[in-house]
Amino acid sequence: MNIIDIIVKKKNKEVLTKEEIEYAINSYLDGTVKDYQMSALLMAIVLNGMNMEETYYLTNVMLYSGDVNDLSEIKGDVVDKHSTGGVGDKTTLILGPILASMGLKMAKMSGRGLGHTGGTIDKLESIKGFKVELSRDEFIKEVNEIGMSVISQSGNIVPADKKLYQLRDVTGTTESIPLIASSIMSKKIASGSKNIIIDLKVGNGALMKDLDSARELAHYMIEIGKKFERNVVCVLTNMSEPLGKNIGNGLEVLESIDYLNGKASRDLKELITKLVTVAMKVSVGMSEDDAIKLMNEKINSGEALDKFKQFVKAQNGDIDNIEISSKMLQINSSKEGFLKSINTLKLGELARNLGAGRLSKEDEIDYGVGFVINKKVGDLILPGEELLKVYYNKKDIRIDEILSCFEVVEEPVLKQDIIIEVIGG
Ligand code: URA
Repeated sequence: MNIIDIIVKKKNKEVLTKEEIEYAINSYLDGTVKDYQMSALLMAIVLNGMNMEETYYLTNVMLYSGDVNDLSEIKGDVVDKHSTGGVGDKTTLILGPILASMGLKMAKMSGRGLGHTGGTIDKLESIKGFKVELSRDEFIKEVNEIGMSVISQSGNIVPADKKLYQLRDVTGTTESIPLIASSIMSKKIASGSKNIIIDLKVGNGALMKDLDSARELAHYMIEIGKKFERNVVCVLTNMSEPLGKNIGNGLEVLESIDYLNGKASRDLKELITKLVTVAMKVSVGMSEDDAIKLMNEKINSGEALDKFKQFVKAQNGDIDNIEISSKMLQINSSKEGFLKSINTLKLGELARNLGAGRLSKEDEIDYGVGFVINKKVGDLILPGEELLKVYYNKKDIRIDEILSCFEVVEEPVLKQDIIIEVIGG
């Protein structure tokens, strides 16, 4: 067997066998298959797809490329949440402490940025000292004692995804149903949780741009979940505008703290509430009303914020030392009207260009840069009113490009709903 034949087969839209998929992944891991060959294969998969069976084989070989966690040492109900990636998506940083304060356990392995979308691990690293790599014992102990832990794909958990993810990030091969489904499901299955909630983003800022592709991705993940006896629920959510207000690593941590302090933007609150109710339902069968009541109690009493602080401290982070750039430029609108749309993909790319994400595998993240958006779709904008703030460091700011992401019209525009539908469970 050789990799060139496999690349050509996929280029010609043929179905790969289990053995071919295993060969490609294992040989990439041991270095026989080079980055440029794997990039070609990934691009062929992006363009020509993989059927459910191929995707299952891909998930399986990735899953067993490393260790599979056994969470039986965790006492209580474990739930895991994963996002398919968006702009301004700080959900894990808010959901984890809320669920932990409500009595669930969240043992989570998160990723770094992918393409124009940010990653939880990069966000956490904007907190000075924060350790994203823990030993297995430290991880289990933290989940048992605090109720949550978030670590990177460290140790030997799905090393195949770690290597492929880094390559996909910088080769334009992120937007593919089989690649996303196998990447997420291999990690979620290896992480050990029986209940898996996927926040599946749809829209111009997401990897899935339209509802049909999002539904297909949900179908792939639910079916793969079944093969591994996991309960997968996909919550399809709108990513046609950034989530909340802040985009960029340190800025998103600050917004998460604000949220836990009771200062939540409408869309983020809608999303968190839905994810909390789904998590409580699938893990302990709690009704929606009871879950919302308990969640509000835990936020209002400060217990959820306390959980966040305990979690940061347990992972060596200094919550009073979050990196935010000292250089800031406020951009005001020159137009009057209603905000019709935000080109979220472009805004994510511009944040990445500022340094919030990587353009090549070796790039260092600039944790303090990003945007704070002052207007959401449907808002009225007066001339001269603040549209957003840009936190920057080294790079030049292209004000015209940033402004071109915001479409302002004369007629009133409806605000967008964030929850589209829930599939599975
Ligand atoms: N999140 C992942 O973990 N993998 C993907 O491919 C996309 C989003």
